[in-house]
Amino acid sequence: MSSTSRDGFTNKFGVIAAAAGSAVGLGNIWRFPYVAGENGGGAFLLVYLLFILIIGLPVMLSELLIGRKAQKNVFGAFRTLAPDKPIFISVGIMGVGAAFMILAFYAVVAGWTLEYAYLAVGNQLKGMDAAELSTFFNDFSSSTTGPLIWMAVFMVLTAGIVIGGVKNGIEKYTKVLMPLLLVIIIILCINALSLDGAEAGVAFLFKPDFSKVTGGVILEALGQAFFSLSIGMGVIATYGSYIQKKENLMFTALSVSFADTLIAVLAGVAIFPAVFAFGIDPSSGPGLVFETLPNVFNQMRGGYVFSIAFFLLLVIAALTSSVSLLEVVVAYFTEELKMKRKSATWLAGGSIAVLAVFCVISDGVFEFFDWTSSNILLPLGGILIAIFVGWVLGKQKMREELEAHGGKVILVGFLNIILKVFAPLAIGFVFLRGLGLL
Ligand code: TRP
Repeated sequence: MSSTSRDGFTNKFGVIAAAAGSAVGLGNIWRFPYVAGENGGGAFLLVYLLFILIIGLPVMLSELLIGRKAQKNVFGAFRTLAPDKPIFISVGIMGVGAAFMILAFYAVVAGWTLEYAYLAVGNQLKGMDAAELSTFFNDFSSSTTGPLIWMAVFMVLTAGIVIGGVKNGIEKYTKVLMPLLLVIIIILCINALSLDGAEAGVAFLFKPDFSKVTGGVILEALGQAFFSLSIGMGVIATYGSYIQKKENLMFTALSVSFADTLIAVLAGVAIFPAVFAFGIDPSSGPGLVFETLPNVFNQMRGGYVFSIAFFLLLVIAALTSSVSLLEVVVAYFTEELKMKRKSATWLAGGSIAVLAVFCVISDGVFEFFDWTSSNILLPLGGILIAIFVGWVLGKQKMREELEAHGGKVILVGFLNIILKVFAPLAIGFVFLRGLGLL
């Protein structure tokens, strides 16, 4: 098996930019703040951090390890590593299926962010009050033509990056876009914190009120952790297959989880202090960034510039994530079906865009894809991945791959126990609760 002809990331920064690009997305900047807002702010944040650390991080490490060991797309990886255990090939099949479903609805929301970036540049939301902004968003998101066009534009942008390959497409763009994203979010945070009355928003985000931690909050936090880290369906495994043996996977997993969590928290810091400073209710659901924030920008000094920066931030976050989802399918098409990268990209992108059309015209399809992928495919994938690395590969092979760069890695035994027992049980519990079976 030669890996020399395989495309891959050039260095540590490239690996982290691409993987953090996948993890940091609409999940961090659009979803995290409103889910935290609906579930008690600081209390939610605490449970979320705990899940990232004890479940998210080990599962992310497992995916990286599977991909790099097999040097294959997610489907080929399980077939290569466990040819006699077909149950695990289902992870590959679910992974490719999940990529289709997630990207189909993701591209629709990403399309909204393009529309709002466009509106921000033209200053077209200026002068609207809260009620008008809310009506505007509802009318727009339930219409057809606008969302369809923006979804298509977004898919073309995504395909345009993926078509270049791993080194000359994904890595090249994420290396520029991710630092830009960090700069924008820091500027937005500084501005939000400088507003009069910002403290109430900071307290809301960081002061835990344990009476708010119910079973439902715990379930939300785990689902959010999976979605936000891009784990459970082979995105990280696919990226892992492009990582050189000299890289330290533990370092990669730690940096990516840290970056993802940092950006989610910073998104909260950029949003809540501003929302509180203008006396607006923080728990406004999915409309938080499309209805509440434009209202905040309309009242804020320099709001024009900040609104452009914010929606540009959302577009960048969405783009570097959608690229990773498309790459899962493209890697499968090129390696398993022997297609050329160019045709694979257009075929995958084109068929996902067709599914996305159904998400635009039907809320039911949108919700079905969103719900099924996050509540069924990701947790099931997560359980199987943990069991696979914990039991099938086992501690010895884990250590071999984790130490392939030539260094020593601590806590491998502990990680192995987490993967064998704790993670499958914890995820399984959430899964059954999510289905209402427990
Ligand atoms: N993690 C991304 C976000 O937070 C979305 C995403 C990209 C994703 N790839 C994924 C979610 C794979 C689940 C699985 O927005």
